[in-house]
Formats: sequence, C-alpha cells, structure tokens
Amino acid sequence: MRILLFTGKGGVGKTTTASATALRLADRGVKTLLLSTDAAHSLGDALAVPLTDAPTEVAPSLWAAQLDTQGRFEAAWRDVQSFLVDMLARGGVDVVTAEELTVLPGVDEVLALLAVRELARTGDWDALVVDCAPTAETLRLLALPEALNWYLERVFPAQRTIARSVRPLAALLGRGDTIPPDGVFDALLRLSDDLAGVRELLGDPEVTSVRLVLTPESVVVAEARRTFTALALYGYAVDVVVANRVFPAGDDPWRRQWATAQQAQLADVRESFAGLPVLELPYRPAEPVGAVALREVADGLYGALPGADPAPASPARDLLRVEPEGDGFVLRMSLPLAGRADVDAVRAGDDLVVTVAGHRRVLSLPSVLRRCVVSGGSYDGAQLQVRFRPDPELWPAEGPARRRPSPRPRPATEP
Ligand SMILES: Nc1ncnc2c1ncn2[C@@H]1O[C@H](COP(=O)(O)OP(=O)(O)OP(=O)(O)O)[C@@H](O)[C@H]1O
Ligand SMILES: [Mg+2]
Repeated sequence: MRILLFTGKGGVGKTTTASATALRLADRGVKTLLLSTDAAHSLGDALAVPLTDAPTEVAPSLWAAQLDTQGRFEAAWRDVQSFLVDMLARGGVDVVTAEELTVLPGVDEVLALLAVRELARTGDWDALVVDCAPTAETLRLLALPEALNWYLERVFPAQRTIARSVRPLAALLGRGDTIPPDGVFDALLRLSDDLAGVRELLGDPEVTSVRLVLTPESVVVAEARRTFTALALYGYAVDVVVANRVFPAGDDPWRRQWATAQQAQLADVRESFAGLPVLELPYRPAEPVGAVALREVADGLYGALPGADPAPASPARDLLRVEPEGDGFVLRMSLPLAGRADVDAVRAGDDLVVTVAGHRRVLSLPSVLRRCVVSGGSYDGAQLQVRFRPDPELWPAEGPARRRPSPRPRPATEP
C-alpha cells in the first residue's frame, strides 16, 4: 500500500500533478484511488468527470472521489454535536446559532484524515493519491492527529472518571443533563484511537510520502522551503519535489528574462532539497484538463510508459532518533532549512516541546529520557540535537550505562 500526498502553495499545480500521477499508476496496472481533501474541490474539473464522496471508477484501475466532510461530520458526530447544541440551547443560545457554534474549526480536516484511513483500510486499492488543500491547511491537517490525540489522551480519561463519579450526585440535584453522557466520551475515545491510527499510517515513510509541488518563483520556493521544514518537524517524509510551469527557452526578451529568473530559482530548489528528485514540468500552451492532457503531464513527470515508478517506496530516513552519548543520551531530530533563531526546544515534564517558526510538536519522551535532565542543545541548520544527562535521583546505583534507550522517542500518540 502506498499513499502519496500532494501539497504546495495555492494554484501551483497540486490537482494537476496528483491526477497525472494517479492516472500513470493506473495505466501501469496499480489499483489507485485519487482523493481530494480540499473543500474547494477541483479534481472533477481536472479529470473532466463529475465526482462525489463515493469512489467512482473513472478509468481502468482508477477510482476518484471528492470527500464530503460536511456529510461525514453529520454522520459521525451527531452524538457529540447534539449534546453540545442542547447545552448551549439551555444556556439561552438559539438552536440555529448553537449548531453553527458546534461546527468546530479543524473538524473538516479531521474528518478528511479519518476518511483517508478508512479508505486505505478497505484494502480495495494499492495506492491512494491525495490532492491536499494548499500548504497551510495541509500542515494543520498533518499536525492534527498528534496534537489532538495529546489532548484526548490526557484530558478526557480524567474528565470521564470525574463525570462517572459526579453523575449520581448531579442527577440527585436535578442537574444530570449538564454532564456529558457516556456516548460523548465514547465518541471522543474512539476518535483518539482513530487519530492514532491515522498518525501511524501517515507517519510511516514506507507507506506515506509527501510530494511538494512548486513553481520556480521566489515567493513560492520560500514557502516550499518552510513547508519542507515543518513536515520534517511533524515526522512526515517528502520524497519528490515537482517544479511546475517551467518556461521553455525562447528568443523574445520577455521570455528570456523569465527563463533566466526561473533557472536561478531552480538552482536554488535543487540545492535546498538536496538529495530529493526535482521533477520539472514545462509550462504548457493550454490547461492540462482531461485524461489525454494529464497523461502527457505524466509522461513529462515519469517518462513515456511504463516510465519510472511513480510511487517507489521512499528510502527509510530517520527523522528522529535517540542514541547513547558519553554518560547520557542525545536526541536527534532532522529539521532541514530552518533559521537558527526560529528553532526552540523546551522540556515540559515528560514532554519535549519543539517549536520551529510557529509550528509546534509535543513529543512524549521515552522513559529513559524522562529520568534525565536536559544538559544542552544545538541546531546546525539541518539537525536539532538535545542532550540529556541522567538525573542521579532517578537512576539506580549502576547508572544508565547498561541500559539501552528505546530506538526513538514515542510520538505523543503512540500507546
Ligand atoms: N504545467 C502547466 N501548464 C499549463 N497550465 C497548468 C500547468 N499546471 C497546471 N496548470 C493549470 O493551472 C491551474 C492551476 O492548477 P491546479 O488546479 O492543478 O493547481 P492547484 O495547486 O491544485 O490549485 P489550488 O491551490 O487552487 O487547488 C489549472 O487551470 C491547471 O490546468
Ligand atoms: Mg487543487
């Protein structure tokens, strides 16, 4: 099973390249599902076929769907939402406004993720190609399972225990309806499990990789570089960069000037994403809409059929690891392309909070590091290193020397 996520700044060609890649996989006989999680769906326009929430066969071995997160929300969240609406209504908020208020921000993204996992788990497809929303939303989407699960795991079990013990008393006082019924907690705990599953699926570099689409323009490249860093922070592997809308060389001064500027940007791209393949696509004389044009785009990306495998498993890259060093341990996290001043790591109890230019990840430290104190840290432009020294009060007399650390710290969502 392979999952390819296409992301990039607005309008750079995500839908076009995702569709072309899915077509190429199908043309090579791989059963493929092409999905869009972007609420502003344009997959149907690119393929020139009408699409719905249910996968439709659009070509041999190729199915496509545009996720209807609103419909999915209504189906999955009725319990939780009706409780919240009741609560607000009793507090004097009219029902229509209450319904509006309970459509939580980010819910669309959560449901899109859950749907991707659900479809992956049917086993009906060998490849899932996901046309994501522009970068900012995609990052929010990919950071969600871990962040949300962190809350759900810590906050809700406690709340549930409290609810159980106060419910009889509240009932006696005639206030039982203000405590969430067990159904609400069950829904939240189920959500927590499902999100852990999403994280496991999308965080496994042998299953999932991200394809960054850009155009060779300074503003777009700058955003792609920041996205590359943020994806590494959250533990997602990028395996290909697509440089789209490259101007073919020509004689008129206008075109020459554009071509020169783009070549400089392309050189920067090859350097920034060193080690990753950068696939170039020319600016075509017309919009690549429909299967014929998209197959030409696929030829441009992967060569004429059978061409290069559009979805080779990405080489395992260690984004995060813990190793013994001297008397203690060092945690190494790959964080390419960030500015030194933008990177920060703070120990907070049993967690390590890593921040990069506004993006934050909370890592649950493995037990070996929980019994250590942070003794230093550094960032060299590519890798963050945090050093840990055993806390003498927490180690038995023989010290940590004979113990091996677990190979990597547990992300907050792992059991
Ligand atoms: N190489 C190309 N040559 C010419 N036109 C292109 C090329 N790539 C994409 N286009 C056209 O550019 C427009 C934007 O492409 P596309 O919809 O794939 O971008 P997107 O990144 O998915 O946009 P959005 O962020 O709005 O979802 C479309 O009209 C598409 O047909
Ligand atoms: Mg699009």
